[in-house]
Amino acid sequence: MITIKDKQFDPFIHHEQIADRVAALADKLNADYKGRNPILIVILNGAFMFAADLVRCLNFDHEIQFTKYSSYDGMDTTGHVKELIGLSISIEDRDVIIVEDIIDTGTTMASLIPMLKSKGVKSVEIATLLMKPGKLKVPLDVKYCAMEIPNEFIVGYGLDYDGVGRNYKSIYVVKEG
Ligand code: IMP
Ligand code: MG
Repeated sequence: MITIKDKQFDPFIHHEQIADRVAALADKLNADYKGRNPILIVILNGAFMFAADLVRCLNFDHEIQFTKYSSYDGMDTTGHVKELIGLSISIEDRDVIIVEDIIDTGTTMASLIPMLKSKGVKSVEIATLLMKPGKLKVPLDVKYCAMEIPNEFIVGYGLDYDGVGRNYKSIYVVKEG
């Protein structure tokens, strides 16, 4: 068990299991993107660790860009997305893969995808480490998802609770009560 601020968390997904699932997801991308030189758009802050492990399993040429949106405050989604860091290169006529840590309500992706499509991308797909299908509020086509989890709040492997806990190698789930 670990303690972060006022909450306790139990072990949930061990780092060896994460590594296996990330490698399996990378294999799917390796099969689909050979020769296409896609742009990976990594959503900061949460996806930094997933992205670092994922790209080391990719065997096709690609470019990486980082963007940042804000929709979360503590443990509650506000339903609003604000662009904090934008893209610095043209994505027109390019294959784009959005690299995200976790899809919760889907609000972030639902506002990002039309924005990318309006810039004339050739294609756009989502590659997410985690997804909470039970919390999805908007229809979303997620082609690449490493793991699905129940509606519980988690930390570690890039994910934070109130800014803290991103450094853990494994993923932990909040203890009830
Ligand atoms: P959405 O826009 O509601 O899909 O929220 C997505 C973002 O919320 C993710 O990129 C995370 O940064 C954050 N988030 C969602 N669920 C969790 C969680 O269980 N722990 C930590 N952050 C989370
Ligand atoms: Mg995120």
